[in-house]
Amino acid sequence: MATYNDVSERLLVKAALDVALTPERVLIGGLGVGFSLAEALNDRRVSQVKVIEIVDKVIEWNQSYLAPFSNNSLEDYRTEVVHADLLEWIHRREGQFEVICLDIDNGPDWTVTEANARLYQKDSLVALSDLLASNGVITFWSASPSPEFVERLRHTFHKVIELAVPQEGHDADYVYIASLPINPVKVDQR
Ligand SMILES: C[S@@+](CC[C@H](N)C(=O)[O-])C[C@H]1O[C@@H](n2cnc3c(N)ncnc32)[C@H](O)[C@@H]1O
Repeated sequence: MATYNDVSERLLVKAALDVALTPERVLIGGLGVGFSLAEALNDRRVSQVKVIEIVDKVIEWNQSYLAPFSNNSLEDYRTEVVHADLLEWIHRREGQFEVICLDIDNGPDWTVTEANARLYQKDSLVALSDLLASNGVITFWSASPSPEFVERLRHTFHKVIELAVPQEGHDADYVYIASLPINPVKVDQR
C-alpha cells in the first residue's frame, strides 16, 4: 500500500470494466489508498461500489489524510465501505456484482496474513463466482506471477488472462482477469 504509484491498482479495475458488458455494481476487496475505488467511480456506468476493508484506521484515514489520493471517493453517493474481513464476508453471499476487484495481499503466493491465503483457494473462488452476476468479471492483483493460481482460476472460471504491468525500477505487477464459470445458473438478486 503506497501513495506514489497507482498504475496497477487502477488497471485492476479498468481491465475488468473494459471487458464487462454492463458494469453497474462493483465489489472491491481492500480499500488501501483508494486508487482502485476512484478508478471504479470514474466510470459513469457504475452505479454502486461496495468496498470491504478489514482495518478501521484505513477507512478513517481515507476520510482525512488519504482523501486527496482518491479524489474524496468515500464522499461519492455510489460508495459504500463495509468494515469486515473479506474472507468471511464473501461466504455470506450477499449481493451480485458485475465486477469484482481484489487487492488485499502482495499476491496469491505472498499474503499479508496466513488467513488471507484462503482467498485464493477453491472454496473462496467458488464463493466469489457465486457473487458474480451474468457477464461478470473478476480481477486479482499480485506483485509476482503465480502459475498455480492461474490453474486454480481455470477450474472455477471460464476465461483466465494474466496481465503483466511493467513498473519503473522494479519487477512487473500482475493482474489476473477471469470471467464467469462455464455453466452458471444465475439468479440475479439485485
Ligand atoms: C494493497 S492495499 C489495497 C490498495 C488499493 N487497491 C488501492 O487502490 O489503494 C490492501 C488493503 O487490503 C486490506 N486488507 C487486507 N486483508 C484484508 C481482509 N482479509 N479483508 C479486507 N481487507 C483486507 C488492507 O488493510 C489494505 O487496506
